[in-house]
Amino acid sequence: MRIAIIGSGYVGLTAGVGFAHFGNSVVCADIDPAKIEKLARGICPIYELGLEDLLKENLSKGRIRFTTDIKDAVKDAEAVFFAVNTPEGEYGKANLTYLLNAAKTVAPLCATGTLFINKSTAPVGTIEKIRETISKARGDDQFYVATNPEFLKEGTAVEDFLHPDRIVVGVDHPEAEQRLRALYRPLIEDGVPFIATNIATAELTKYAANSMLALRISFINEIADFCELVGADVKQVAHAIGLDKRIGSHFLRAGIGYGGSCFGKDVKALALSGEEHGYEFKIIKALSTVNDLRYRIVITKLQKHLKNLHGARIAVLGLAFKPMTDDVRSAPALRIIHELLDHGARITAYDPVANEPFKKMFSRSGEVTFVTSLHDAARGADALLLLTAWDEFQAMSLKEIRSITTGVLIVDGMNMLERNAAEAAGFTYEGIGR
Ligand code: NAD
Ligand code: UGA
Repeated sequence: MRIAIIGSGYVGLTAGVGFAHFGNSVVCADIDPAKIEKLARGICPIYELGLEDLLKENLSKGRIRFTTDIKDAVKDAEAVFFAVNTPEGEYGKANLTYLLNAAKTVAPLCATGTLFINKSTAPVGTIEKIRETISKARGDDQFYVATNPEFLKEGTAVEDFLHPDRIVVGVDHPEAEQRLRALYRPLIEDGVPFIATNIATAELTKYAANSMLALRISFINEIADFCELVGADVKQVAHAIGLDKRIGSHFLRAGIGYGGSCFGKDVKALALSGEEHGYEFKIIKALSTVNDLRYRIVITKLQKHLKNLHGARIAVLGLAFKPMTDDVRSAPALRIIHELLDHGARITAYDPVANEPFKKMFSRSGEVTFVTSLHDAARGADALLLLTAWDEFQAMSLKEIRSITTGVLIVDGMNMLERNAAEAAGFTYEGIGR
């Protein structure tokens, strides 16, 4: 099928490359010329395992191309996906400006009978807004709409797209469902469940999934705080409850709270969407309250041992919001480093891949010393602060690192090290909830 993807970020690019890999003819468009220029040369602008290889392979087979010319992108398309950003807007509502602008631009440029599919995360009712926007811009109703929420996660985006747990589509016409089935045929033939629902159900499913995952994290973080008060170990609690098949073991790692570009905004957007329909989401609202204060836990632990943070040299290990990505959007490190600088701490920061994106996003980068190795960060530090669970940190030789630090404190915001090993190397260890 000939498809166009509007928005070539994490989702649009991965989906574009994925659909090309299934044998479709794909054009990816974006308003960012620098991004498109790189992509057209086979260079992936984001750090995402396997994406550049698949991009190169499909470019060389002529199945995918990239453009900033929206007209050129959509002129022959039978299906047009929207995968633009839907960031947090006023009062926490989803900002649909990019999405509706994209719909308005694209609408008059497409052939009669085009299927418009929203892949951006957006509240119930958004497809109706897209339908109205397109109808007004075209002056006809000769098109189809659908929603197809994306569940991939960063770091494993390609794997998640090519081997998803399920495909969810929200449709109100058999033609829309039939075209989406055709697009996903290779996965359906592999046994991936294809769930076709009405539009509101599919739209809500995306928010329900992200909120459920965020809920598990906030839940275990509260359990972790209580563990510290009563001498329990949250890792063991999580392991033990996770063995119950009804609970499962995923998303029960306690730490510094969820970061990234999605959970925070999506949890807030669902709560606001509830209010707009006269419904109060009590649990969902509490998630943001719990998570927004989570960053404080590592500051308190540093203060407990170092007393005064003024002048203390803290080695921050990890800046990305999670390992295997260079994405720093809403990374806990942004808030934590901000707070540490306010306390007068001297920060040396190291991330295997996210130093540069962090420098660009963080308003106080000039006050931080960025280094390009774990050892350079640790040398002379009064404390090590682990904020991203990179394998490199898990694998470090604690003895060797201790020989170059000034102080003895490790605050492990990711709970990735073992207390015994850290103490045997001469460190004082502070984990979360243990
Ligand atoms: P992103 O910021 O990486 O990419 C969005 C892209 O859209 C940008 O490159 C931007 O320049 C482009 N864009 C904006 N307006 C445009 C227009 N009018 N025409 C063409 N291009 C335009 O965002 P993302 O992380 O890919 O997220 C996109 C959507 O998918 C969001 O709604 C997000 O919540 C959702 N989502 C993200 C993930 C994830 O892991 N990042 C996973 C599932 C769903
Ligand atoms: C998340 C979801 O996992 C995807 O299914 C979804 O498609 C995506 O959001 C989205 O809608 O954008 P992502 O944000 O890439 O994916 O990353 P996650 O692996 O979910 O991690 C999010 C945050 O939660 C990270 O800060 C991570 O450190 C934290 N986390 C995760 C925990 O604190 N504990 C855990 O047990 C798991």
